[in-house]
Amino acid sequence: EKLTLTVIKADVGGFVGHSSVHPKLLQKAEAHLKENGRDLLIDFHVTHVGDDINLILTHREGPDNSEIHGLAWDAFKAATEAAKELKLYGAGQDLLKDAFSGNIKGLGPGVAEMEFAERPSEPVIIFMADKTEPGAWNYPLYKMFADPFNTIGLVIDPKMHDGFKFEVHDLIDNKKITFSTPEELYDLLVLIGAPGRYCIKNVFSKTTGEIAAASSTQRLNLMAGKYIGKDDPVCIVRCQSGLPAVGEALEPFANPHLVSGWMRGSHSGPLMPVSLKDATPARFDGPPRVVALGFQLSNGKLVGPQDFFADVSFDSARKKANDVADYLRHLGPFEPHRLHLDEMEYTTLPLVMKKLKNRFEDIE
Ligand code: F6R
Ligand code: MG
Ligand code: MG
Repeated sequence: EKLTLTVIKADVGGFVGHSSVHPKLLQKAEAHLKENGRDLLIDFHVTHVGDDINLILTHREGPDNSEIHGLAWDAFKAATEAAKELKLYGAGQDLLKDAFSGNIKGLGPGVAEMEFAERPSEPVIIFMADKTEPGAWNYPLYKMFADPFNTIGLVIDPKMHDGFKFEVHDLIDNKKITFSTPEELYDLLVLIGAPGRYCIKNVFSKTTGEIAAASSTQRLNLMAGKYIGKDDPVCIVRCQSGLPAVGEALEPFANPHLVSGWMRGSHSGPLMPVSLKDATPARFDGPPRVVALGFQLSNGKLVGPQDFFADVSFDSARKKANDVADYLRHLGPFEPHRLHLDEMEYTTLPLVMKKLKNRFEDIE
């Protein structure tokens, strides 16, 4: 019998500003799942990264299940009530619609889901980021599943040597395309090197055909029709035995890459790997953070978590991220620290630009 691992996230109010989640909201969401998920869920874990609440759920209902999505929606509603009581910042902000209508996609919260037969041992990592966007996973997923300088298993493990398939989504035109690596590496990179538009949604093993990774790709700012923040993303990666080792899945984060997000969703900055306790973006509302929680699945039970980036081996990555942040901040409102104009379209900048429009005169 197949197992479904579902991660659903939403920002329903920040404490303080956009930096973190008040413990009362986590309690509300947890109590809701406990009470109402009894017959539906096998197990669940509630956590937060920055101002986003993450619900990690296991069940047998399959992906896109309306009862599971409805349960998560109502958990966020319960947390929103607490956020309103405490007058937290942006209470209920990611719940874009008043009513739930069968599938949580398109309603605001972000979803990463995968269904698989649990292996004799099933190590998984849930990556969760704040102050960035779904394309932030393109670089690390490429490194994990296609770069032999990151993942030595691609070279020396016969179960990985055939490579992986990448399903890429175009978030503007709402289309998808699948690439087979290593043969189509260069074609893959044409698209995923532009993470503001093209995002890796799923990765599959070519040896077994099994799903190996799934991300939450959607553009909340596009759905809302006005700027309401970046869609801070989550990503599930299965590990070991023909898939990247845990250490191969974590390795890309040792060299913080630049992602879009940070202050007002309008800046480029380093993605800093941190422990749960350090997932409280403060400097210039950042820099963007990523947390990696490991679980062993045991008949659907979530055994864990292991807070991987708490390890001292990521200290120098944090130092580097802070150095890069120091450097970029000197640029202030100048590109490329500030995002390029086409990406600023989804921020509050166009509102200001509008005022300048009728002051332009023709140049003789
Ligand atoms: C970034 C983010 C924050 C806010 C900033 C301004 O994703 O959420 O950086 O954009 O704090 O917030 P407002 O406009 O609500 O005052
Ligand atoms: Mg927020
Ligand atoms: Mg956030």
